[in-house]
Amino acid sequence: MKEGELDARQEALAAIAREAGERARKLFSNPAGVKLKGVQDFITAADGEVERLIIERLKARFPHDAFLGEEGGTQGSGDALWIIDPIDGTANFAYGIPHFCVSIGFLSAGEPMLGAVCAPMYDELYLARRGRGALRNGRPIRVAGGVEMGQALIELGWSSRLPAKAYTALLERVLATGATFRRAGSGALGLAYVADGRNHGYCELHINSWDVAAALLLVREAGGWTNDFFAGDAIARGNAVLACAPQLQEALVAATGVGQANEKFERRIS
Ligand code: IPD
Repeated sequence: MKEGELDARQEALAAIAREAGERARKLFSNPAGVKLKGVQDFITAADGEVERLIIERLKARFPHDAFLGEEGGTQGSGDALWIIDPIDGTANFAYGIPHFCVSIGFLSAGEPMLGAVCAPMYDELYLARRGRGALRNGRPIRVAGGVEMGQALIELGWSSRLPAKAYTALLERVLATGATFRRAGSGALGLAYVADGRNHGYCELHINSWDVAAALLLVREAGGWTNDFFAGDAIARGNAVLACAPQLQEALVAATGVGQANEKFERRIS
């Protein structure tokens, strides 16, 4: 994709992520239509409304691009693909907890090029462009430097898609490194927090592409390391994810088993 075409998408992305975040913020005061898609897997009316807003705005500017939304699935085809999670942290949203975000990633020919994560209740907008760094509210961010495992905070994402014992085994192995853990309920924000040093790592043994498409680029552009998430059919089916400050890579790959073959991704994204 030509630089000018990417410039146009970057500019649109920042404005649309802000607008979508603002819509989610308004809807948060009175979450409607809360339902379960599966065990501990929430959807609210806001998910559909915010996703439709994002796709409508993007389509108006880029009618030939393709879209993959958490709620609406795939629309269109081609090399220019937007991957959207309208509200990541839906359970938090449904329970009145302000830890949720809008996540919009843009891939060109399978390469993550742009990412936006907007946390409207914190008034924080993260943006990344491949090769040009990562920003929070316009200021450059970096992953945490100098942190060792014995002081590290690793977020461990959980969903009901895998058996509980996979999570408890992961938790035991990560705790054995000396790190502590948390689970705050938004994979996209957990990864964005790795990018700006608030978390030192994020791991989840299965996560969907809409949860990570924007934030993995944030981590890489902020100097962090991530596994080869987009290998194979991860866009459609999800994958394991590990992202961290680079000095923790070896210990976390060993503890989690995620990311042993990352060469392809390293080439693609750096
Ligand atoms: C979920 C959240 C959660 C992660 C799950 C996701 P949703 O997405 O990101 O933190 O652990 O894997 O499914 O349902 O809130 O959009």
